[in-house]
Amino acid sequence: MQKPQQYRHKEIKKNSKRNKKRIKTPKTTIKMPNDYKVSVRLKKDLIRGLGKHSHHRAAVKMLPTFVRATPDGTEKGDYLALDLGGTNFRVLYVRVVEEQQKVVKMDSKICSIPQEMMLGTGEQLFDHIAQCLGEFLESQDLKGQTLPLGFTFSFPCEQKEIDKSILIRWTKGFSCSGVEGQDVVKLLKEAIHRRGDYDIGSVAMVNDTVGTMMSCGYRDQSCEIGMIIGTGTNACYMEEIKNVKRVEGEDGRMCINTEWGGFGDDGSLKDILTEFDEVVDQTSINPGVHTFEKMISGMYLGEIVRLLLVKMAEDKLLFKGETSEALLTPGQFETKYISEIEDGLENAQKILTALGLNWDPVDACVVRLVCDTISSRSARLCAAALATISNRIRVNRGLDHLKTTVGVDGTVYRKHPNFSEELQAAVRLLAPKCDITFLVSEDGSGKGAAMVTAVAQTTCILPPSQQGATNPAAKKKKSVRT
Ligand code: BGC
Repeated sequence: MQKPQQYRHKEIKKNSKRNKKRIKTPKTTIKMPNDYKVSVRLKKDLIRGLGKHSHHRAAVKMLPTFVRATPDGTEKGDYLALDLGGTNFRVLYVRVVEEQQKVVKMDSKICSIPQEMMLGTGEQLFDHIAQCLGEFLESQDLKGQTLPLGFTFSFPCEQKEIDKSILIRWTKGFSCSGVEGQDVVKLLKEAIHRRGDYDIGSVAMVNDTVGTMMSCGYRDQSCEIGMIIGTGTNACYMEEIKNVKRVEGEDGRMCINTEWGGFGDDGSLKDILTEFDEVVDQTSINPGVHTFEKMISGMYLGEIVRLLLVKMAEDKLLFKGETSEALLTPGQFETKYISEIEDGLENAQKILTALGLNWDPVDACVVRLVCDTISSRSARLCAAALATISNRIRVNRGLDHLKTTVGVDGTVYRKHPNFSEELQAAVRLLAPKCDITFLVSEDGSGKGAAMVTAVAQTTCILPPSQQGATNPAAKKKKSVRT
């Protein structure tokens, strides 16, 4: 039975913006997780991931990146950059100009990765990448050169060296066979050699978080954290090498790719998962994997909202108890609708109409509140994780107060009307002794990858034989910024 209008108004008021801690339906409660508790749990997981003996069973992998320095502004040279992490693959030709302290993106090409290829064989995927790169080099008249290449590969990889990177597992809808457990640089080079019409110089493997940190680090040298909240979510930061138990050495720092998306994979977030999170996980192509990411990132938020709306309609709290074919179809409520709906009620009305729903003005308000609840939960979970990392850096350095910059990227962070504000406010509460500046990265996956390659060359991470012969940046510099 439909609730009387008056009662429904009351319910909205009760759950209004000022008091939106939970949305109640007769059988369901979406409760805001306790940010502080989440942060305390992650703090323990970071230590477990860094440990020599605890690492293999850690949900948060804390992967060494072999990036030991952030840019110091003297980097220069010409680079190729590849970017694979979503449904598109990009190739870029990037020039880093020292004098002007800037990175110039010279040209780029985008190739789409069809869904079948995301689920096909690794060989097909890497042949496609090599073909796209070959066409780009041809169009730029660069086929005769062997330029150094930064490969942004936004999946969890166990990096053995800067140019040896073993894929641990696919995420974000990819599942190509024969790649997990393999060295991605080797697969790329093999695909290029199968063609035999061009070659590349040294390769530096880069996670997108690292590229983001490095591209911001060029503009602001106190940038020591990189964070992505887009299709997936993750962060990296500069850790003291002495704490990275799986890497030799006591002095200096190394960038750690946390892979915080895996937080909760050992059941540690069970108490805050809702029935909707569980359905999203079970119907994904990687159940049980990347639990935290599935509560936060763009690939999943729309689906969580859809499931909630279906449940509320079934419980007769929305749409006069009716659904529509579109609302019942997985994937039909896109994550971008959340931003659009929160941006204005007229958008909500248009989207509900397009989804074939029989809505009234109260429904539109409730749907907006549902979107707000799910995006707020995402922002606050990210804030809890970011606060944990910032607090860790502060304590690592024995500082009473830390001033640092976070390089950020990702559609959820960039496009949602108040996600960034909410995240920043929550971080201020959870890390009061950290003064954090947020810098939105300009093309971290392209320019940032070039920057990682430049820093890798100037700090001698890449063996001389692999350094780009034609590259002016191949001078040697030992200094590691601390
Ligand atoms: C991957 C990370 C990546 C993040 C953001 C996650 O699914 O595991 O490596 O940084 O997405 O793209």
